[in-house]
Amino acid sequence: MQTKISLKREEGLRGEISVPADKSILHRAILFNAVANGTALVRAASFGRDNLASIRVMRQLGVDIKLSLGAEMLKLAQAEGISDAKLSSDNEASVEIKGGGFSGLKPSTAPLYCGNSGTTARLLTGILAGRPFKSTLSGDESLTRRPFRRVVEPLTLMGASFSGDKLPFTISAGALRGIDYDSPVASAQVKSAILLAGLQASGDVSISEPFCSRDHTERLLRAQGVDLETSELETGKHVVKLRHSSSCCGETDGFKLKSIDIDVCGDFSHAAFILVAAILIDKSDVLVRNVGFNPTRLGLWSILTRMGGKLEATNHRIVGGEEVVDLRVSSSELSCTEVKGEEVVRAIDEIPILSVAASFSNGVTRIRGAEELRVKESDRLKMIATMLMSFGVEVEEFQDGLDICGKPELANMWQRVVEARVEKNQVESWKKCGDHRILMAGAVMELIIRGEFFLPDMDVVETSFPTFNECFQLLSGGD
Ligand code: S3P
Repeated sequence: MQTKISLKREEGLRGEISVPADKSILHRAILFNAVANGTALVRAASFGRDNLASIRVMRQLGVDIKLSLGAEMLKLAQAEGISDAKLSSDNEASVEIKGGGFSGLKPSTAPLYCGNSGTTARLLTGILAGRPFKSTLSGDESLTRRPFRRVVEPLTLMGASFSGDKLPFTISAGALRGIDYDSPVASAQVKSAILLAGLQASGDVSISEPFCSRDHTERLLRAQGVDLETSELETGKHVVKLRHSSSCCGETDGFKLKSIDIDVCGDFSHAAFILVAAILIDKSDVLVRNVGFNPTRLGLWSILTRMGGKLEATNHRIVGGEEVVDLRVSSSELSCTEVKGEEVVRAIDEIPILSVAASFSNGVTRIRGAEELRVKESDRLKMIATMLMSFGVEVEEFQDGLDICGKPELANMWQRVVEARVEKNQVESWKKCGDHRILMAGAVMELIIRGEFFLPDMDVVETSFPTFNECFQLLSGGD
């Protein structure tokens, strides 16, 4: 399905909106409550196909999950094979999860299909590594290309076995032992998979990573009663420790997690598309309400502020153990910057939209240390470069990053035609890459240049941000 959004000339983006639930927090709220003991109510504005995949696989494993959803989400859930959700009275989503502990999970004869969702697949791998039955995990074309050795290797060292290190694979659980693991990548998915297996293991677990990746798992597990220690080494590495003596029962039943009700805030990664659009479209002034402001996710916030973006976070509060704010943003001129190291980890999902911002800044923006982007839903470094060049921006691609030569004069000119720096078939390649963040970054790019956008594939955008169009429609004065 294609969709077109047009701005009214001279009016910019204006108004107040909220964005769908934080995808990372919601995955954890679903998966962790599914292996907790008791009933939890998880509430969220709306969410996409990835989170529905987490619900679907937990139901396949025998967990009782009831859904009440707004009308649009109800259709999406049906498309994802969940046909018994109820219509909610307030258009919000609520998910009731009756967890029976780790030992309440039952084997599924059918493969557990994780769709496009790396977080579902990697966290589930950690949970199933300790269960006394075989499970097969599968995913869509993009997920089957992504690396799973990063979780297979430590979980094998803990005692589980795997039929391969790419999906689909079968996990055969063993009696899990503790591990002291030095992860070569800063990855919240790897860290979480090891901790979830660790909750079912008989010894202490320690994971170090080069930089601190997002810490939603640590926050939620602590709230569910797990004793976790975190520290920074002199080398800058970040360490998380789970002590068997203080936390785990050491039996195959696994640690008894407390069920916990959670109101999930809006996703900073979704808000990011609106922040960049509002900075770059003249006469914009936007308030995004109820957005997660977890420090491990705020790379883009510091980068845009450094570049000169007019941004303000107000109404700071703590909801469900996570910092939450309202974000105000208005039109501003940007200058180029350099992004590398830890900042890349804190902005890992925002590099596509950051690259859009860089395209309209004064000077050359250099992004380095971002090789992880090559193994996301698409090869994002390649797709970002192709997408920007299709709008006439000069980009140089490196193995671990990009140099983006800003062209501020491209913005707000309502140009219908730009001279692409790539062949027509390459333009098609980013539009057909099936990566939600590349398509949304491309739509914002088009909006800034042309005052309108066509989304080539709404199904893909629904992976994470099903109300993307609706948000821009509202902010551009549409109904
Ligand atoms: C996520 C972790 C990140 C991020 C992904 C969501 C999570 O991946 O890119 O979109 O929810 O744990 P890595 O853990 O692979 O860095």
